[in-house]
Amino acid sequence: FRVLRWAWRLGYLSAIAGIGYIGYGVYEDRHPEDQIVPDPSKKTLVILGTGWGSVSLLKRLDTENYNVIVISPRNYFLFTPLLPSCTTGTIEHRSIMEPIRTILRQKKASVRFYEAEASSIDPDRKVVRIFDNSEIRGDITETEVPYDMLVIGVGAENATFGIPGVRDHSCFLKEIGDAQRIRKRIMDCVETAAFKDQSPEEINRLLHMVVVGGGPTGVEFAGELQDFFEEDIKKLVPEIADRFRVTLIEALPNVLPMFSKQLIDYTESTFKEEKIDIHTKTMVKKVTDKTVEAEVTRPDGKKETIVFPYGLLVWATGNAVRPVIKDLISRIPAQANSRRGLAVNEYLVVQGTRDIWAVGDCAVAGYAPTAQVAGQEGTFLARLFNNMAMTEALEGKIGELSSSLNLQPGNAAAVSREIEGYERQLRRIKDAKPFHYSHQGSLAYIGSDKAVADVTWFNGNVAAAGSLTYLFWRSAYISMCFSSRNRLLVINDWLKSKVFGRDLSRE
Ligand code: FAD
Ligand code: NAI
Repeated sequence: FRVLRWAWRLGYLSAIAGIGYIGYGVYEDRHPEDQIVPDPSKKTLVILGTGWGSVSLLKRLDTENYNVIVISPRNYFLFTPLLPSCTTGTIEHRSIMEPIRTILRQKKASVRFYEAEASSIDPDRKVVRIFDNSEIRGDITETEVPYDMLVIGVGAENATFGIPGVRDHSCFLKEIGDAQRIRKRIMDCVETAAFKDQSPEEINRLLHMVVVGGGPTGVEFAGELQDFFEEDIKKLVPEIADRFRVTLIEALPNVLPMFSKQLIDYTESTFKEEKIDIHTKTMVKKVTDKTVEAEVTRPDGKKETIVFPYGLLVWATGNAVRPVIKDLISRIPAQANSRRGLAVNEYLVVQGTRDIWAVGDCAVAGYAPTAQVAGQEGTFLARLFNNMAMTEALEGKIGELSSSLNLQPGNAAAVSREIEGYERQLRRIKDAKPFHYSHQGSLAYIGSDKAVADVTWFNGNVAAAGSLTYLFWRSAYISMCFSSRNRLLVINDWLKSKVFGRDLSRE
């Protein structure tokens, strides 16, 4: 009983501490301190993008050291790992968005934000050309922003490999708008299939949901979709219960190539149980408004074309380079061989340039294009820039003290000691190590309240799968959410969809 009493007290205290922590976070967000305005003579640091790389940099950057300008067509940060859950309404889209204005308001010194897209970067003149592509435009829609230092974190766009029909007929899954489009389209297919006198062939087509790309985006989406069907659609629209099908098409011999073999097998067998059809060694070649044409390689090596009629097609075949990056690559001779993005050195400086750094999916640093990498790169740059500012300040102090040495001979020993102290600090800062990525592991949701995880543990690798891993997946993503507000909203959405079911209304 004594143990139980202590356990109860401990639990009670942790709950109070947790609530206090969240409460303090909320209070701080709602009552930010007045911001200082940085000295205009300081360097202008322009940051492109409000994704994982740029926002991780902003989070830890001492903004009082620079005149910081953030430019992005998106005035919010998006927590992409939970985006597949928004396609079915398990999570509402606003729960995983954090306004950039809120993030910037928390900084000690003010930061300027322009909602605009960078169309080109001129590394010789040190200017970025930007344009306002939003619905409402003022007299000025295009202008130039000069920079002293530039960080490019514009991410990547969807790869289509020039396959005919993909851009016109499929849905991507990268942005909030994509998730909303998919959610609408799923319900449109269901309601159209239930329309009076619809032919059986047409019902089968409309209820066939095809996902192209067996990477984590495609796998997680397929899992979420099947959950939506099993837990909600099937119960509320029983007349179509035996017609709904999810098919996943992958060009390689297996899905989730970045996971270990046992997790790949586990995912494929779970999909089989969930009745998700996987077609591996199947490469999509053409898309029309109602069909997907793919070439399948049979075990004897023979190739055959299959046609899949579909109602919803989700295209998740990875990343391609954005036009602004292609344009910059074409201006830098040292980037002549860059195909997948801007080649950067170990300090994330864009090869062949001065004062330009790149982070995340638009940079090629030898790592996978993931949020984990982009986040760590952003944090690295924040430390680097904070140190650079500190170096300048220390060098200024050393210069000042050295020049005053002969003016105060009586104090010479004390001044020399002070200079030595600053020099020691300077050496420590200048000894900055290059960027090193530390892989924490990979996680993916695969449907039916199951997840797979390849986690780094004491320099080794632990592979786990199943329902407990799903709990780990949930707690990991809750702790990674950007703010306390996001955390509370996501928990609320999970509870809401479990208790009341997902919302089937089509907006
Ligand atoms: P992004 O986060 O894509 O941000 C790019 C920013 O640049 C955006 O704000 C965009 O609006 C802005 N921008 C675009 N064009 C311009 C322009 N011309 N000028 C100025 N700004 C511009 N990774 C993981 O590690 N774990 C996961 O669980 C995971 N899940 C994912 C789920 C989905 C559905 C997707 C699509 C990706 C997922 N990823 C995950 C990958 C991860 O989201 C990316 O690797 C990460 O977002 C890259 O960060 P970034 O800063 O380079 O780009
Ligand atoms: P991806 O590049 O990981 O996978 C795309 C898949 O599409 C590949 O397996 C490829 O073989 C296949 N493909 C390409 N063309 C095809 C065609 N014509 N027909 C059939 N299949 C084709 O892309 P994804 O899943 O969008 O991920 C992008 C990045 O984001 C990756 O680095 C990934 O690790 C990361 N990510 C991580 C997640 C996680 O950790 N849970 C979740 C989602 C994305």
